[in-house]
Formats: sequence, C-alpha cells, structure tokens
Amino acid sequence: MIELKNLSKSYQNGKVKAVRHLDLTVKPGDVFGFLGPNGAGKSTTIKMMVGLLQSDNGSIQMNGIDISWDPLGIKKIIGYVPDEPILYDKMRGSAFLAFIADIFEVPGEKREKIKNLAKDFELSDALDDLISSYSHGMKQKLSIIAALLHDPEIFILDEPIVGLDPRSSFLLKEKMRRHAEEGKTVFFSTHVMEVAEKLCDRVGIIHHGRMIAVGPLEELKTQSRNSHDSLEQLFLELTDENV
Ligand SMILES: Nc1ncnc2c1ncn2[C@@H]1O[C@H](COP(=O)(O)OP(=O)(O)O)[C@@H](O)[C@H]1O
Ligand SMILES: [Mg+2]
Repeated sequence: MIELKNLSKSYQNGKVKAVRHLDLTVKPGDVFGFLGPNGAGKSTTIKMMVGLLQSDNGSIQMNGIDISWDPLGIKKIIGYVPDEPILYDKMRGSAFLAFIADIFEVPGEKREKIKNLAKDFELSDALDDLISSYSHGMKQKLSIIAALLHDPEIFILDEPIVGLDPRSSFLLKEKMRRHAEEGKTVFFSTHVMEVAEKLCDRVGIIHHGRMIAVGPLEELKTQSRNSHDSLEQLFLELTDENV
C-alpha cells in the first residue's frame, strides 16, 4: 500500500514547482501506472517515495510506515529501479548482486534467485564481466534484478521499459504482473501508453506537477469529454497545452 498526501517539491528555491499537492493511494495487488509528459514531475515524485529526495510538504507512507519516521524501514520493503541505473562500474555483475543481497540481508538459501533472475533476463554469461563493459540495456537488467532480490513488498520503477529489448520488456511486464498477483504493490512511471494500457489496474496522469486524473482506465475514459477508445487519445486530450 502506498499513500501519498499533499506531496509537494520545488527546485531552485521555489522557482520550479515540480510536484504540487499530490494525493495518491495505491492498493496492494494493483499495478499502478504513473503517466505524464516529460517534465511532469514523475521522477521527482518517485525519488521522494524512495527517499532520494526530501519533500517540501506532505507525507509518504508505505504499508503503514512513514518515511519521515522510519526511512530505513521503508527502504527495506521497496525495490526501486531508477530511470538511469545506479551501479558501480568497477564491480562485476555477480559481485554487485551479492553486495545488494548482503545489504538487504537476503538469506543464503534464497540466493539461488540471483541465478534464476539472471537466467530469465539472459544476463548469466555477463555476470562475471565488469559492469563498465555492459550496454545500457544490460545495466538496466542488472538494476531490475537487484531490485527484485529481496522480493520487495513495494516495487517501484521509473520508466523501466525504455531501452529494454523485446524479450526483457515482455519478461519484466510479466514479473510486474505476477508481483501484484502475489498481493504486493507495483508502481511504475511511463510515457508509453500501450504499456500502461496492457499492464495497469489503475493509472494516474500527472501534468505540471498536478495529478489531473486518476482511476481505473475504463472509468477515466468515461470521464473525458469524448468517449475515447485508447488511453493515448485521453492522455493527449488531458495534457493538451492549447485547451
Ligand atoms: N535537479 C533538478 N533541478 C532543477 N529542476 C529540476 C531538477 N530535476 C527536475 N527538475 C524539473 O522539475 C520538473 C519535473 O521533472 P521530473 O520529475 O524529472 O519529470 P518527469 O520525470 O515527469 O519527466 C521539470 O520541470 C524539471 O525540469
Ligand atoms: Mg522522469
């Protein structure tokens, strides 16, 4: 369960208001798609949720834990895939994953998961290589595996599909779906409408830092001026600067 209340964040001493009074609840068992044009405030919101940025106002709770009271408690239950992989170039893939497993205190008997995930994402052969030799897509896959090692209650991904090859993208979508089916919470940002349409139970559209629509896809479509047959049309209408 993710609960954001009245969340705000500005940059440059208030000149750039990136996120404005954002309220949002995402229930366990749901895949939630956070949609919005470039610069809408998606990454800023996500960075606040995972504790990389401090909010100016508002509160963030995950499974009842408040980020300002127990930041470490939140980090333990989330798996985060950033928009740009945050890795250590001088480490080998296998050492990096072992390091992450140590940090999250993944017990020895569960470390088989490293091998299984690497196999799923076709990264097994590269695990002995230095991360500096990885392509962008390979780094992204390593980052996804690292986020899943401790089987997080809350899985948060920032533009995860961009840069993945078709097989990995398919596999990731399956993993996200399965994660939600296990009763966990999945939250991801995207501007790829087809992905959102196929994957999400609910979506929210953020524009200029404000949540301008949120709900199940079918419900949103009926709320709009015209009855739309695709999420893309709805998105274009709601984020049209000329209306
Ligand atoms: N570190 C930063 N310093 C100043 N402005 C920033 C910074 N990061 C993001 N912004 C601005 O905040 C707004 C929201 O950005 P961001 O959250 O990255 O949007 P999105 O992920 O939806 O593309 C944009 O106007 C962006 O230029
Ligand atoms: Mg972003």
